[in-house]
Amino acid sequence: MGDASTTGSVKITDGNKGSTDLPLLGGTVGPNVIDVRKLYGETGYFTFDPGFTATASCESQITYIDGDEGVLLHRGYSIDHLAEHSDFMEVCYLLLFGELPTVDEKESFVKTVTYHTMVHEQMVNFYRGFRRDAHPMAIMVGVVGALSAFYHDSTDINDPHQRMVASYRLIAKMPTIAAMAYKYSVGQPFMYPDNKSSYAGNFMRMVYGVPAEEYELSPTIERAMDRIFILHADHEQNASTSTVRLAGSSGANPFACIAAGIACLWGPAHGGANEAVLKMLEEIGSVDRVGEYIKRAKDPQDSFRVMGFGHRVYKNYDPRARVMQMTCHEVLNELGVEDDPLLELAMKLEKIALEDEYFVEKKLYPNVDFYSGIVLRAIGFPPEMFTVLFALARTVGWVAQWNEMIADPSQKIGRPRQLYTGPAERPYVPIEKRG
Ligand code: ACO
Repeated sequence: MGDASTTGSVKITDGNKGSTDLPLLGGTVGPNVIDVRKLYGETGYFTFDPGFTATASCESQITYIDGDEGVLLHRGYSIDHLAEHSDFMEVCYLLLFGELPTVDEKESFVKTVTYHTMVHEQMVNFYRGFRRDAHPMAIMVGVVGALSAFYHDSTDINDPHQRMVASYRLIAKMPTIAAMAYKYSVGQPFMYPDNKSSYAGNFMRMVYGVPAEEYELSPTIERAMDRIFILHADHEQNASTSTVRLAGSSGANPFACIAAGIACLWGPAHGGANEAVLKMLEEIGSVDRVGEYIKRAKDPQDSFRVMGFGHRVYKNYDPRARVMQMTCHEVLNELGVEDDPLLELAMKLEKIALEDEYFVEKKLYPNVDFYSGIVLRAIGFPPEMFTVLFALARTVGWVAQWNEMIADPSQKIGRPRQLYTGPAERPYVPIEKRG
């Protein structure tokens, strides 16, 4: 790291203190950034940016987004090309190591991931402590955090070998952990991983297979799941990734950091949106009620938002949403449910929103979650599992970003400051004198 180049400077002028020059740093593509690291020391000022709308928190070489143009690149490769030509294991390798693998590298990578798919048998008892109706994301947060209690030999973050072992373990075990959360909720026996299957195929088998029968999976659904994983693999410094980095910046172990990321992802403004989209479509219920909900979304007094629309970075169509829409049609076609009323409703909602002045003016376009809920529901997942699948796929992104952060010498513990507006110091008043 430290590959950014200084491309100029920006002068900050203050009537009382004179002026200060702040370096302007440039990356490969994308906007330059003002390096404010010396600002406080030289001027006594902080920057103020709630929600980090104009703040680059780190230097990164993993993912690039151009929100205005609707571009998403992983290590320079466009998401459309990866979704069309690649597979999830290859994308994992790319995110982790920076290059697409050779045949040998891929074989060895897949073998290592496969080798780590089982979880410690003692973890079964851990699951049994949960209520059967627990939300699977609650289980994921608990179980992934608990991995650090089971895998002590990969929690030393200063040892690159242990970091890599933890990375493999997380990518490999996440499908097993997610499938176990599902099986526990439906009261079926846990299925052990099958190392002959693909990453997506093995996951589907652990979710839908039962020990009593052979499990068969349609190649279209297997490919669709793989593509869904690719589309969710990484997305730059989003809320959950930033959470993972912030947790990791204190030196916390990787399992604890990923559990923090999962907790953040759960929220409906982030990964929980796919579940929220489906609930919203079910609530709208029929095409003739779309207008009513669009009206509600535009009413500043109403907190309702069209779930699956809008994005902090994309002010254009989310490139992942296009691929997801295509995948949605493929899956529904394969399953013979092309005339799904929820899909019809979603398409009508999308059409109206894309033409509506409010949505056009605010540049609110469908995001990846708009269609993913429909695909996952058609495949048979209950809505509570949608965000779990997102977490499963995003794990590689979190792990890659965490590794990059640990190896970056310029990273310090994340410690934002604040604009304090509470009371200034005042004398303590004994209780009998208050009132
Ligand atoms: N429906 C209606 N209005 C919306 C929507 C929406 N989905 N999204 C944003 N707006 C409006 C806001 O009310 C706001 O209006 P105002 O300027 O009059 O106050 C304006 O558009 C800007 O919205 P912000 O909330 O300021 O934008 P921000 O970048 O903070 O939020 C977010 C982005 C959280 C994704 C937002 O668009 C949203 O809540 N969308 C619905 C939830 C969703 O789909 N989340 C998934 C995101 S993608 C992902 O995590 C994989």
